[in-house]
Amino acid sequence: MFICSSGPRLGARPTPLRDPGAHNFNPGAGWSSLPEQLPDPFPYRAELDLPVPQRRNCAPTPTKKEHRGPSRLKPPLGFPGPIPAPCSRVWKDWSVCAPALCVCVLRRWISGGRCRCSLRLDGKTAVVTGANGGIGKETSREFAKRGARVIMACRDIIRGEAAAQEIRSSTGNGDVEVKHLDLSSLLSVRSFCEEVLRTEESLHLLVNNAGVMMCPKWLTEDGFEMQIAVNHLGHFLLTNQLLPLLRSSAPSRIINVSSIAHKGGEVDVDDLFFSRRSYSPLKSYRQSKLANVLFTRELSRRERGSGVSCFCLHPGVIRTELGRHVESSFPLLALLLSFPALLFMKTPHEGSQTTVYCAVTPGLESKSGKYFSDCAEKETAAEGRDDETALKLWNESCRLVGLDQD
Ligand SMILES: NC(=O)c1ccc[n+]([C@@H]2O[C@H](COP(=O)([O-])OP(=O)(O)OC[C@H]3O[C@@H](n4cnc5c(N)ncnc54)[C@H](OP(=O)(O)O)[C@@H]3O)[C@@H](O)[C@H]2O)c1
Repeated sequence: MFICSSGPRLGARPTPLRDPGAHNFNPGAGWSSLPEQLPDPFPYRAELDLPVPQRRNCAPTPTKKEHRGPSRLKPPLGFPGPIPAPCSRVWKDWSVCAPALCVCVLRRWISGGRCRCSLRLDGKTAVVTGANGGIGKETSREFAKRGARVIMACRDIIRGEAAAQEIRSSTGNGDVEVKHLDLSSLLSVRSFCEEVLRTEESLHLLVNNAGVMMCPKWLTEDGFEMQIAVNHLGHFLLTNQLLPLLRSSAPSRIINVSSIAHKGGEVDVDDLFFSRRSYSPLKSYRQSKLANVLFTRELSRRERGSGVSCFCLHPGVIRTELGRHVESSFPLLALLLSFPALLFMKTPHEGSQTTVYCAVTPGLESKSGKYFSDCAEKETAAEGRDDETALKLWNESCRLVGLDQD
């Protein structure tokens, strides 16, 4: 056993190694550099046979990440070479942000065109059919927001009144009214028109928006097939009955909400109700939406110079109740599609934008008879430019709803 006299006692805290470049303050001599060679804090090392520590670099201990060397993140496809270490963090963040950004860009693209025109509609009167929900309700809200008097023409008065109340409170416009209109009944259409002609001094906007899609083969009380009856014939009669008021209020506009489904459609003027053809819910819907396009074309030709312009449009693919008949036939499919629908379909507000665009954009009169989508003029399918069929359909529609063919 030996006694260490000069070194620190065993168990005492060793003097910490000091940075040789550091400076020390000596009250007598001021700041001075520490000696190059620091004294070994364990001078008894030899006696204890302790290993001499390797001279260590005073650089800060590398972090765990730096020990890994170059980034182990896989570069994206097509990225030239490995990702440089300083970029790895950026890339890591980017790999999280990119999907979110893609979803945002996709959502923006799906939401489609927006009506940028902020024109007010104070003093104007608008009629919107099928206004208790979906696109019609949002169109009514937009008109009310711009100060118009809005007549919401609804089949379901209770839902219509609830929608109107919501619009009144959200826009602060109390001049929003609900009137009953069942487009599947010629009697209902006539009585609605009589009331409007009796009570309204002017009418500047008529939006033929109501629609039914792919229902089973149903016949209306007038003996018409339901889809062509609601989507075309009811609106045909409505428009013709309200035309005198629209003309006297000119400039005025009629907007027919059609669909891209008109493409590939066929209007069989001799068999509009599928009496001789086998009924197909999709064929019937397409026929009715093509009828909207042809009706717009013929109407614009007839109204040239009257101050009444008309337009038809595809509103986009929108989350509304339009698919109710498809959903009731395929409930599982509807359930499966409900989540993607949130992402890949327009909201009703977004779906109303092209209608609002056609209603308020100044100078659109020169485009009367045209077809719009995403707040821009688009070409219809070739079948939508068939003037002969448009005229035949007009005449047949007059006969069916009981109007003169002049
Ligand atoms: N949603 C889309 O993706 C899409 C795509 C292309 C075109 N469109 C067109 O957009 C228009 C509006 O559809 P939406 O998507 O808003 O569908 P929606 O939510 O089902 O709205 C349709 C509206 O039409 C009304 N309606 C149905 N039958 C009627 C009748 N006999 N008389 C009076 N009103 C009737 C409905 O009233 P009830 O609630 O009482 O049934 C409802 O208010 C339709 O013409 C449709 O063809 C929609």
